Amino acid sequence: MKKILIINGPNLNFLGKREPEVYGSETLSDIIEYTKKETAALDAEISDFQSNCEGEIIDALYRAYDEGVDGIVINAGAYSHYSIAIRDAISAIKIPCVEVHLSNIHAREEFRHNSVISAVCQGMICGFGKQVYPLGVRVLCEK
Ligand code: DQA
Repeated sequence: MKKILIINGPNLNFLGKREPEVYGSETLSDIIEYTKKETAALDAEISDFQSNCEGEIIDALYRAYDEGVDGIVINAGAYSHYSIAIRDAISAIKIPCVEVHLSNIHAREEFRHNSVISAVCQGMICGFGKQVYPLGVRVLCEK
């Protein structure tokens, strides 16, 4: 059984209320439940973590290393666009990570087009709303 951790960064705690036209109307816990249901047939044990703080996300990445997590699905929110510290932590732990975004970051403001974490992730999935999470889990389980 693969241990998969889903990490969500800043402002994703407010899903459901936050710009529903961009991010949909479901809450983060709805999306986590949906992801677990969609991936129930896979041999995965899914846990999740959300924080609005960069350092807490970095601590969660090192905890994942200590706990022998096999794969990480990460939506680092706005930190994706500028947190070299999160990028360095992903690079350091060497656990396969899939970067996800609910929205298509390439179709939005220019400052969202670049992600500094993409290059240290196995790949990136964006623009498919909540489906990006089970897709990310599937990729990690089929590796
Ligand atoms: C996001 C996209 C980011 O640009 C934004 O800052 C977020 C959410 C997404 O899931 O589409 O907080 O990561």
